[in-house]
Amino acid sequence: MADGPLDKPKGPPVAVNRRSWLAGAGASLTALALMPPATARGQELGADGFRLLHARPGMAPLRGPNAPPTPIWGYDGLSPGPTLRIKQGEELKIRLVNDLRQPTVIHWHGIRLPNAMDGVPHLTQMPVEPGASFDYRFTPPDAGTFWYHSHFLSSEQMARGLAGVLIVEERDPVAVDQDIALVVNDWRLNNDGAVHPSFGNMHDAMMAGRLGQYITLNSQDTLDLKVKSNERIRLRIINTANARIFEFRIPEHVTRIMAVDGQPCPPEVVPDGVLRLGPGTRVDLFLDLTLKPGASAPILIDDLRGGWLELGRVVYDGGAPLRAEPLPEPKALPANPLPQNFDFAGALQVAIPLDGGGMGMMMGRGSMMGGGMRGGMGGMGGGAGFGGHGLPPQDRIWALAGIASSGHDGPPIFKVERGRTVVLDFANRSALPHAMHVHGHHFRNLIGNGESHKPYWLDTVIVDPERTERIAFVADNPGKWMIHCHMIEHMATGMAAWFEVT
Ligand code: C2O
Ligand code: CU
Repeated sequence: MADGPLDKPKGPPVAVNRRSWLAGAGASLTALALMPPATARGQELGADGFRLLHARPGMAPLRGPNAPPTPIWGYDGLSPGPTLRIKQGEELKIRLVNDLRQPTVIHWHGIRLPNAMDGVPHLTQMPVEPGASFDYRFTPPDAGTFWYHSHFLSSEQMARGLAGVLIVEERDPVAVDQDIALVVNDWRLNNDGAVHPSFGNMHDAMMAGRLGQYITLNSQDTLDLKVKSNERIRLRIINTANARIFEFRIPEHVTRIMAVDGQPCPPEVVPDGVLRLGPGTRVDLFLDLTLKPGASAPILIDDLRGGWLELGRVVYDGGAPLRAEPLPEPKALPANPLPQNFDFAGALQVAIPLDGGGMGMMMGRGSMMGGGMRGGMGGMGGGAGFGGHGLPPQDRIWALAGIASSGHDGPPIFKVERGRTVVLDFANRSALPHAMHVHGHHFRNLIGNGESHKPYWLDTVIVDPERTERIAFVADNPGKWMIHCHMIEHMATGMAAWFEVT
């Protein structure tokens, strides 16, 4: 029983620090045959063309071939679930069959879909009871890297493994030699390898959320990507952890970002090669394999303590390069049909302070205690505050826009007419970062008052302590949409709300 989740970091063989990672690299590697990363598997089709997806228990060899596998919950018993791949413009038809002993739903993270398909219990659909099924059917408008996960009791269901990858392929194939999804997840395991049942505990909720001490790529203990010199691979990196912000790097290679949160961006080389991915976030890289035949490089994730963990390797074939020279610099991926007609003059502006948590109180932050969470929440909305918002008092640890809500009860935090520009100011007045996610829309992360923006479309933005992130989107998708922190234990204890596009 780990009482501190980070007591036993997994690493080669102990965590190495940033300066000396080379000294530790390669120490404990078994030559594994390439396991296909998150590939499509045999699929069960209903007579009506729906692909059946069973939420059910399964086993995952998280700790490698020499340790007993871990009982997990997964889609078709797999975690990550089967990788769903469709072409842009094609309809996805999925029948969720609930073989669990508790209700569940599927949320399609980052897909701009019709509201009724968004998979939020009580807001867009009723929970799917054990033994029941629900049909999800929609045509994703955007090509890119998306994912799907439970949105019911997600603190438990996601921690047990209920997440998978959804890839929407571009209409014209993208010129890469391999296309690989890399799911980064952390697991809190007991010594016997079982998932630790401390779901939704208050200590996690007060602090950074449920962090696992065991980090995996595609739920494997170590993952080797087999490559050839001068090959170009598309790496789709997806953070499916409940709460952890990951830093990711592959040394000795150029890190070229092609898309973020499913949406193409101008190709961008990251100067220090380190990607910072909040929970829920995706980054698509084009990785040019520029080392010599027979070379290898580690795939590194930070250990939260200034060191790096080696979770796998890029392993070069010893034979001839795939081509004589690496490919020339890539052009941007084709743009998706996002609404771009921002009207800042006519925008609906909403301030969304983020309050609460444990660190702030421990640090005795007077401003928060006085004018922020306690006073603010009690005083907000004259009676429409806590009383009407569903969360039992002991679960109100965090607040979004002055209210601690489950994200589906109570009134919306705003209503907006379809087509209007919305500008949100996420002001983090707590001592921990938050990963703020908006359903049904992608947004721009503004610089200043909207004179410019960062070069990405996002569906989730990290808001660091004491910082404000201003975002903007055109509210073109009618319905009831959640806004919440994607640190699931924060969401479950108040950092959640919803808005309506009418
Ligand atoms: Cu991936 Cu409401 O979340
Ligand atoms: Cu949070």
